[in-house]
Amino acid sequence: MIEFSDVSKSFGPSKIAVDHLSLTVNDGEIFGFLGPNGAGKTTSIKMMTGILKPDSGRIKINGIDIAENPIEAKKQFGYVPDSPDQFLRLKGIEYLDFMADMYDVPLELREERIKKFSDEFEMSTALGNTIQSYSHGMRQKIVIIGALLHDPAVWILDEPLTGLDPKSAYTLKQRMRQHADAHKTVFFSTHVLEVVENLCDHVAIIDHGHILFAGSLEELKEQHKGDESLEKIFLEMTDHE
Ligand SMILES: Nc1ncnc2c1ncn2[C@@H]1O[C@H](COP(=O)(O)OP(=O)(O)OP(=O)(O)O)[C@@H](O)[C@H]1O
Ligand SMILES: [Mg+2]
Repeated sequence: MIEFSDVSKSFGPSKIAVDHLSLTVNDGEIFGFLGPNGAGKTTSIKMMTGILKPDSGRIKINGIDIAENPIEAKKQFGYVPDSPDQFLRLKGIEYLDFMADMYDVPLELREERIKKFSDEFEMSTALGNTIQSYSHGMRQKIVIIGALLHDPAVWILDEPLTGLDPKSAYTLKQRMRQHADAHKTVFFSTHVLEVVENLCDHVAIIDHGHILFAGSLEELKEQHKGDESLEKIFLEMTDHE
């Protein structure tokens, strides 16, 4: 479970990136976070993961306040950032070992999970190469595998499907579904509305740091006369012209 209570964040005196945001992401659901470029999604996610400090408000992960108890809160989640271009000089396997060390994953368990995820995402033969040599999609996949190694209850994914080939995207979406069905938490941002329509139970739409809508997809469609596509609803809600 993820709880945002009245969270705000500005960059400098004039740029309000996130404005009094309150949001609850329940266990057992896939929650899609939508909004135009610059809406405040990544800023919200970085506050959720303790990378950025909110100016005001509180964020709890599984009931643990990220500001008050950051280490315990961070053990609850796995995080995939919006850019996978990190630790480029490490080999894939070195990166995964590093992540497993950080999260105290026992040796046997990490070997089993690295094998399983690397096979699933077709990364097994690339693990001996440096991340520098990976394509964008391969970098994305090594970060995803690293984030899942400690079997976190809460998944926080910032545009996780960007750059994934169809098979890897399918694998990740299936895993997200299984995780939510096991009564755990999946929160992700995306621009791909088809994915949202097919995968999400709940959505929030953010624009200029404000939540325009938060609720189930059915509620959203009901509010918009029931028969329109999510694309049309989204474009209408975020149109400022
Ligand atoms: N470090 C920063 N310094 C100054 N302004 C920032 C910083 N990070 C984000 N912003 C601003 O905050 C706003 C929200 O940015 P954010 O990255 O959260 O958007 P986003 O919804 O993730 O967009 P995208 O869909 O393009 O990823 C934007 O106007 C952006 O310019
Ligand atoms: Mg972003």
